[in-house]
Amino acid sequence: MKLNYFAGAAGNVPAAQFAQKLIEKMPGMTRVYYSNSGSEANEKVFKMVRQLAHRKHGGGKYKILYRERDYHGTTIGVLAASGQPQRAAQYGPMPDGFIEVPHCLEYRSQWGDIDNYGIRAAEAIEEVILREGPETIGLLCLEPVTAGGGVIVPPEGYWQKVQEICKKYDILLHIDEVVCGVGRTGKWFGYQHYGIEPDFVTMAKGLASGYAAISCTVTTERVFEMFKDDPTDPLSYFRDISTFGGCTAGPAAALENMRIIEDENLLDNTTAMGERLKGNLLALQEKHQVIGDVRGLGLFWGAELVSDRKTKEPVAEHLGQAVVAECGALGVLIGVTNRSLPGLNNTLCLSPALIATATDIDAITDAIDKALTKVFG
Ligand SMILES: Cc1ncc(COP(=O)(O)O)c(C=O)c1O
Repeated sequence: MKLNYFAGAAGNVPAAQFAQKLIEKMPGMTRVYYSNSGSEANEKVFKMVRQLAHRKHGGGKYKILYRERDYHGTTIGVLAASGQPQRAAQYGPMPDGFIEVPHCLEYRSQWGDIDNYGIRAAEAIEEVILREGPETIGLLCLEPVTAGGGVIVPPEGYWQKVQEICKKYDILLHIDEVVCGVGRTGKWFGYQHYGIEPDFVTMAKGLASGYAAISCTVTTERVFEMFKDDPTDPLSYFRDISTFGGCTAGPAAALENMRIIEDENLLDNTTAMGERLKGNLLALQEKHQVIGDVRGLGLFWGAELVSDRKTKEPVAEHLGQAVVAECGALGVLIGVTNRSLPGLNNTLCLSPALIATATDIDAITDAIDKALTKVFG
């Protein structure tokens, strides 16, 4: 009898094929774990870190650092790592050992108008590490570009310094690519713009472009080996099961998704159309005083709406939503940050399909132009 799927431990042909294709795109990474959502993919990393704390660090290095304004999912473990207070509100008490580090949005600099904001924001992470004690910290979890927290592209110098800090204090680096992974930024992964070497990468949304529920947790041989130190110990491996993680449909859809991206040169298209979108948005910023800041990478852009460019006073949340509704009425779907950060849910979010043409991009920004005129005059 042929079975399409039995259990994760048994594997299946599309899952093995896709894992192989995926790690070919991720130099330095070798091991792929499947699950069904971004939250679960991130939870797996947190579980690995906690297990390593027990096995390797005598109970130390169990704390998980996350960044203000980042988001990592909806289950209690990952909500404890939510840098978006409105997402976590009313779901506590949260598990212990999750510590926030400051955001890196220069437009809302915590240190005034400084030259080296990227370095300063990374140093702020180091300050938290020193305050908590490096021997207590196992993981730093970051989005490559903060998505739902307002489309924040980390500033110049940030990533290199972050990598240096992780190495200095023996802290594993986890990049949450649930939004950016598999092409959104014009490279396979957002972190690949910055020459960094993560210990974990998680991904979900773009893996099968919504045709199947699939997420991946990818790690290195070094991390994998850390779990195999004692063959006589029945607990000496990463113990994690998932009823449907890696079941056949997800990897089959992900294989086809990757084939299309390659055959149709969609990474190049993303970069080219991203440049066009950026240009159009900057032109809109010239025209509409309400656009305080424009930021993004590849085909992922945000426009932050403010009622006063000098004070940067955010517009009320319902006004951003009115812009989204006006665009919808014109047949264009855009997003806006919502229920994330009290008083700061004011960034329009654009993530057009990677197959978008110049005509599509212009249609999107034309609709935003009309919607902004209608809502703000
Ligand atoms: C950056 C990031 N990580 C994790 C998640 C959680 O993924 P899921 O909703 O598939 O559990 C999301 C969801 O939007 C996300 O934006």
